[in-house]
Amino acid sequence: MQRIAERESWSSHSIFIIACIGSAVGLGNIWRFSYITGLHGGGSFVLLYVLAVLLVGLPALLVELTVGKKLHTSAVRAFREMLGKKWWLVAFPLGLCLLVLSYYLVVMGWTLFYTFTSLGGEYIPFETAVGDWALPMGGAISLLMVWIVARTDIKSGLEKINVYLFPVFFASLLLIFLNSFTLPGINDAISYLTTVNTDVLFSPINILNAITQAIFSISVGMVVMLTFGSYLKKKEEIFHSSLAIAAADSIIAIIGAIVVFTVTFTFAIPTTSGAELAFESLPLAFLSLPFGAVTMFLFFLLLFSAATTSAVSLSEVLVDNLRSKMGSRARAGWAMLFLLLIFFIPSALSYSPLASDFVLDGVPFLEFMDAHIIGRFAPLIVVASLVAFTWGWKGCKKALKENIPEPLVTPVYLMVKYIVPFAILALQAAEILS
Ligand code: PHE
Repeated sequence: MQRIAERESWSSHSIFIIACIGSAVGLGNIWRFSYITGLHGGGSFVLLYVLAVLLVGLPALLVELTVGKKLHTSAVRAFREMLGKKWWLVAFPLGLCLLVLSYYLVVMGWTLFYTFTSLGGEYIPFETAVGDWALPMGGAISLLMVWIVARTDIKSGLEKINVYLFPVFFASLLLIFLNSFTLPGINDAISYLTTVNTDVLFSPINILNAITQAIFSISVGMVVMLTFGSYLKKKEEIFHSSLAIAAADSIIAIIGAIVVFTVTFTFAIPTTSGAELAFESLPLAFLSLPFGAVTMFLFFLLLFSAATTSAVSLSEVLVDNLRSKMGSRARAGWAMLFLLLIFFIPSALSYSPLASDFVLDGVPFLEFMDAHIIGRFAPLIVVASLVAFTWGWKGCKKALKENIPEPLVTPVYLMVKYIVPFAILALQAAEILS
């Protein structure tokens, strides 16, 4: 029982909600959601995504926060309690956190670089930037920032960063969203995002992509929410908080998509431009608008603040689990830094003057990580976590009863125990076979 007294806790319940939203809302909402929506059929994908949030993301979030709150300990110890000898399964979600963070920091570095350079009203084309050391430097500064936050206890590190950056994020999003209404492309963007085509709707690959996006965007299945839940006190509620987190995350993704596609349609940029949309096409488009330099700056500031709060949530998980082995947060911070560097360096250098040495399977190392780690393994790892929570832990249903309204207990439990894992595996199999 001693460890319960020792566990850190949130300063207040609102800060817990802000930190969860900070983790959920990230590059995934603005950059990934819009380019994936562009590639997979606009409005039909948005509809699939909303269904995936309601049927997969939200139930998984409820279960993961419940596990964290109930077991009130680090992910490694929670898996020990749930799975006994099979506790090593926790290596999968933890490994995923490490890999995601290693390249997420690189992209965060790009947003930092562009936030600074756009201050002077200037846009340096992405290709030119890659020929210089500035992008990897931005990554290194991001790594340093996240490392400093991770070494500090949650009240003075993680919480502060979220409390400072939340208003920055919110104000820049609001300004840039309002600005969209002055552009001619707004109507086309809204009709693109709301027109549903049934052929696209029933494609297994699109359904799987929507589920993957929902999982990534809400930050579930990677023990981040388990860790955040474990800093809650016994009496704190999680049901309404989960609804607020999932709603905020989805609304922000949709607002982000409206912003991105309004510019896309105004300047006739192809909706299927892919991953480079945010860093190549959009800045140029922004610059040609009235107040373009300010809009471009706000856009990168938005991306940077969103990326930072997500990155610190991933590092919190790593440090929290390393500290029981290493003895202190500071030492755990060093261990995390060392582990991160192994994957961070090739990702960062794959967009630098040494780019040609860091190509894997014909694409930059970083792109390979995003496509394979998130695109392929993340859904399977999420299945492993959900199976651990529901099949591995006998107390799951009882704990759910204590935390969510009675009529929802069985549907949420059945969804997370049977339907979601089975659906992800079946869709993955269909994708491999097709
Ligand atoms: N949800 C974050 C985003 O949308 C990414 C993330 C995934 C953060 C998993 C933490 C854990 O960008």
